[in-house]
Amino acid sequence: MQDLTPSPKDLDPIEIASRDEIAALQLSRMKSSLKHAYENSPFYRQRFDEHGVHPDDLKTLADLARFPFTTKQDLRDTYPFGMFAVPQSRLVRVHGSSGTTGKPTVVGYTAADIDHWADLVARSIRAAGGRPGDMLHNAYGYGLFTGGLGAHYGAERLGCTVIPISGGMTARQVTLIDDFKPRIIMVTPSYMLSILDEFRRQGLDPRECSLQVGIFGAEPWTNAMREEIEQAFDMHAVDIYGLSEIMGPGVAQECVETKDGLHVWEDHFYPEIIDPQTGEVLPDGEMGELVFTTLTKEGLPMVRYRTRDLTRLLPGTARSMRRIEKITGRSDDMIILRGVNVFPTQIEEQILKCAGLAPHFQIELIRKDRMDAMTVHVECTAGRAEKEARLTAARELAHHIKSVVGVSADIEVHDPGEVARSEGKAKRVVDNRPG
Ligand code: DLL
Repeated sequence: MQDLTPSPKDLDPIEIASRDEIAALQLSRMKSSLKHAYENSPFYRQRFDEHGVHPDDLKTLADLARFPFTTKQDLRDTYPFGMFAVPQSRLVRVHGSSGTTGKPTVVGYTAADIDHWADLVARSIRAAGGRPGDMLHNAYGYGLFTGGLGAHYGAERLGCTVIPISGGMTARQVTLIDDFKPRIIMVTPSYMLSILDEFRRQGLDPRECSLQVGIFGAEPWTNAMREEIEQAFDMHAVDIYGLSEIMGPGVAQECVETKDGLHVWEDHFYPEIIDPQTGEVLPDGEMGELVFTTLTKEGLPMVRYRTRDLTRLLPGTARSMRRIEKITGRSDDMIILRGVNVFPTQIEEQILKCAGLAPHFQIELIRKDRMDAMTVHVECTAGRAEKEARLTAARELAHHIKSVVGVSADIEVHDPGEVARSEGKAKRVVDNRPG
């Protein structure tokens, strides 16, 4: 694989600024952002007043800890437009994320917000190894989901030629990759695996295709999965993170030259890690829940938004801005099985250790003898469909899960293509427990 380290002259100066410069910019932006939220969003004014805090109380970045958190529930309670800090006529776009209740939580952007977003996604694609002039295949879904349009505007901003294919119609995805020869692909890692299957189905060698960089995100994925995809396509695979409440894709991005976690674009988003139980701010390096305060957003400023994503903050490497470690999972996705915490990513890692298994999987929760139990549905690789080979693979996986993750799981090995596929975010856990 090619060395894609960018030249420092191509970076935004703030990407390689000193920590002092970054902190000074954050403090001045944070002051304006809190003031904007307080003065223009009745929601924030009431919230701050109830907590007895005022934007003028923020003298240092550490003072942010005195301000109240914002949660997804706040967005639900004020659905659809109750938290906005500008009149609706100033919003140029809305997006949403589907919640468990069926109604999306709605977010909105002014023209300046869209402009910043495009800049940050362009910065992210460049960090991933993209350059002006590249052809970019964008298979993130277009629509209320922020992935498609977010990636699209950023790619155009960088100067790429975008193929706005969106998710789905997998055979056509492969045909267009084969015909147009894009250098970059943006897609969820789970859908990239479906695209891989389709390459093989069409008799095409994925290692011979034009793709050199994949920018994968919107769901948790492991370093083991990175290796799998990099090997299969002979390409770089890097991680992109974001959430609609804060912006969309491009809140944090892994750099292709280090692949060591994701640099948070700290000039626009201030990260904190908190203890999810007590809400206390934890020092850098400790694991906890990621919280963001937006520093430049006009339409929907967010003050201490609790993401539910679990990670830790690490010092900058390829850039001066701090990194988050690859996200283990969301606190909402954590399975507690007889007292042991299990994340789908831990199961993914173990599956990728077993030679006879393909990385398509789903975890089913059931109740057995009045106890919660877990069945892992996984596929064998093509050519491993014989009964004996499946039994061996199932035994091997059960053993790895027991010894590394610490829980017992039943394993069901299916034929290739039998485990449900996603065209966007994979649904890793199916809860079939009664009640
Ligand atoms: O998933 C935005 C996005 C689009 C990010 C395309 C990257 C690429 P939401 O639909 O609001 O926004 O979902 C946000 O997805 O809180 C995480 O739990 C999860 N997530 C996003 N990126 C990653 C990642 C988009 N790289 C939620 N690793 C977030 C792990 C991720 N989880």
